[in-house]
Amino acid sequence: MKVTKAIIPAAGLGTRVLPASKSVPKEMLPIVDKPAIQYIVEECAAAGITDILIITNRGKNVIEDHFDHSFELETNLRQKGKLAMLEEVSAIADIANIHYIRQKETKGLGHAVLCAKAFVGNEPFAVCYGDDVIMGDIPAIGELAAAYEKYGKGVCGVKPVSAEAILKYSSLKVEPLEERVFRVTDMIEKPTPDKVMSPYSILGRVILPPEIFDYLEKTQPGAGGEIQLTDAMRQLALDETMVAVDFSGKRYDMGNKLGIMMAQCETALKHKEIGEDFREYLKKLAETL
Ligand code: UTP
Repeated sequence: MKVTKAIIPAAGLGTRVLPASKSVPKEMLPIVDKPAIQYIVEECAAAGITDILIITNRGKNVIEDHFDHSFELETNLRQKGKLAMLEEVSAIADIANIHYIRQKETKGLGHAVLCAKAFVGNEPFAVCYGDDVIMGDIPAIGELAAAYEKYGKGVCGVKPVSAEAILKYSSLKVEPLEERVFRVTDMIEKPTPDKVMSPYSILGRVILPPEIFDYLEKTQPGAGGEIQLTDAMRQLALDETMVAVDFSGKRYDMGNKLGIMMAQCETALKHKEIGEDFREYLKKLAETL
């Protein structure tokens, strides 16, 4: 079955990027000239996903405004003859069918996904964590969807991470199935060092069967007192219905300050308008370090 629906949870408090995220959702922080969440929506559209539910909360109306037409702005650009920018700005409203629901209490990523139950219905669906941007030639969520179609199992997007980073993310028990694809038999969120099962961690993308909602409804608060999606996915892993794909793109963590700067810097170097000038600037700056 083809995956045509995605959820982007964007209702977190973003405490690691305060004060920037006090009134601007971290998902709206720019990577050069586009907000992070637009890259994610574009990744979904490039993978054939037609309907996206963004989970928001109080103060996240700017996300809705961003994916809507701005008639005043568009009229102004038309009058000034800035037609290329007009086209770019108005196209944002048509990238996909975007729906919204509010998570009324910030009870964790698992709870945010549960808010999407009615939207999802009885289909497999993608979850793209709103603060994980993946850049690459092939949309990462498309690579996961292909694995879903092949194996008919839930799929998580993984990468090996450092021994230090794994403690902040999750750790998966994996066995190789084919190149870059693994069987997942167990997983743990924010493990203590003695509980690390492998260096593979889920980095921001999963495809889930609708059965996940049965597990999510029973999931008790876990790490950090939050309802963790990883805890519900662990049940799929224990049922042997979960695989992992080491996706080909590069992932940037927009949920922390260093991750934001890495995304900015590397994207700026490739940017068609400022790339060359930025490279020169960076070379000169590096000489002074
Ligand atoms: P994080 O745990 O990285 O986001 O969740 P956070 O809670 O905002 O982070 P800090 O620790 O306070 O800095 C991953 C994704 O899940 C969303 C976040 O918006 C982020 O995109 N999320 C998290 C929700 O939608 N709801 C929640 O209750 C928690």
